[in-house]
Amino acid sequence: MEKLIIEGGQQLQGTVRISGFKNAAVAIIPATVLAGDTCVIDNLPQISDVKILADMLSSLGATVKELRPNTLEINTTAMKDCYADYELAKELRASYYLLGAALGRFKKAKVAYPGGCSIGSRPIDQHIKGFEALGAKVTIEHGIISVEAEKLVGAEIYLDVVSVGATINIMLAAVMAEGTTVIDNAAKEPHIVDMANFLNCMGADVKGAGTDVIKIKGVEKLGGCIHTVIPDQIEAGTYMIAAAAAGGDVLIDNVIPKHLEAITAKLKEMGVNIIENGESLRIISSGNLKNVSIKTLVYPGFPTDLQQPMSSLLTTAKGTGIVAETIFEGRFKHVDELKRMGANIKVEGRVAVIHGVKNLTGAKVVASDLRAGASLVVAGLMAKGETEIENVQYIDRGYDQLEQKLISLGAKVRREHRE
Ligand code: UD1
Repeated sequence: MEKLIIEGGQQLQGTVRISGFKNAAVAIIPATVLAGDTCVIDNLPQISDVKILADMLSSLGATVKELRPNTLEINTTAMKDCYADYELAKELRASYYLLGAALGRFKKAKVAYPGGCSIGSRPIDQHIKGFEALGAKVTIEHGIISVEAEKLVGAEIYLDVVSVGATINIMLAAVMAEGTTVIDNAAKEPHIVDMANFLNCMGADVKGAGTDVIKIKGVEKLGGCIHTVIPDQIEAGTYMIAAAAAGGDVLIDNVIPKHLEAITAKLKEMGVNIIENGESLRIISSGNLKNVSIKTLVYPGFPTDLQQPMSSLLTTAKGTGIVAETIFEGRFKHVDELKRMGANIKVEGRVAVIHGVKNLTGAKVVASDLRAGASLVVAGLMAKGETEIENVQYIDRGYDQLEQKLISLGAKVRREHRE
């Protein structure tokens, strides 16, 4: 067990390079099952979720080689089927992408109900609806989801809720189905586009990704390819918020500014100076900011994954801010920890009302999930004195070399083993 210790109050200065997008990486690695060939995936973040998925594919019969620290060569030729039991699947949510990918290639798969961050009930009914529309029989028994089809036939699928996971899983299952599949009310997040590009690079015919109608013409076979994962918009947004919170002058490099428009707009509204230059954003902040209200929405709205780090920033901004969480009902677990640090926050259902206080003070806190952990890091950077964050393993799931990156910006952060 490890903990992060942050000595707050240091301004941040310098350049931070953003890694590959976790949420794209954890979908693309399972999608290599469809190739039945060798894929090289580049710009992977060095995070535990990527390592777990790579190990998972190896134990399912794939050959996974680390060519370089951020590059995996994955050969799925020898895989004959896919049975990911509880011990394999419990580790992360993205294990459910094996269902779509293996259904697409083998016409069957068994994967234990997925794990992942505890941020709400997280149903998978839309994934199942999509698989069934393509002709698969889906059963859930003893915690194992089984999907099986004699053949998959393209269909028109309207998603009742805009779901990133369901959109990707249906794309995976449909790429080798007979005929055309149309996903209506599809998610538009940047990693949907990255996934479509990866599938097309393997020989698929996917059009419309990034809009709410995605058309997939089934092809007979896919093959290997080389793909570079897009930069992580959530990691970038977290460093933008951290720079705004601690104050200073930070260049966030290797980003796609378009993916960050919602967060850029909110930070500007608070009084942060943001200068866009090609693939980088320069964040200049005095630390004296005014409060704003945010409402989480599907892309291109304000991302739910940045709601928690943003709430930390609002705790010391002047005035009152209202945070409305519309995507995951259980995403306020960081609030009690922020209160330990002196924040004035009241939660009513899916809304948090934050009254800005003069400053936070360091305290012992516990990360309850990945982005809650990121929010405590932001709070620790702002707070007076020392903050100790327990459950660092959640943060390691999604942030590549967090403390090294923060230290390079001048933060005082260290990792210790917990007795
Ligand atoms: C993905 C991201 C996660 C992000 C979330 C929303 C990955 C690995 N994770 O999670 O970081 O917070 O998108 O941007 O990419 N829903 C249903 N039925 C379903 C599926 C979803 O009701 O079958 C609901 C969920 O409970 C939630 C909403 O739809 O309220 C959005 O969920 P979804 O987009 O599927 O999130 P994930 O793919 O799990």
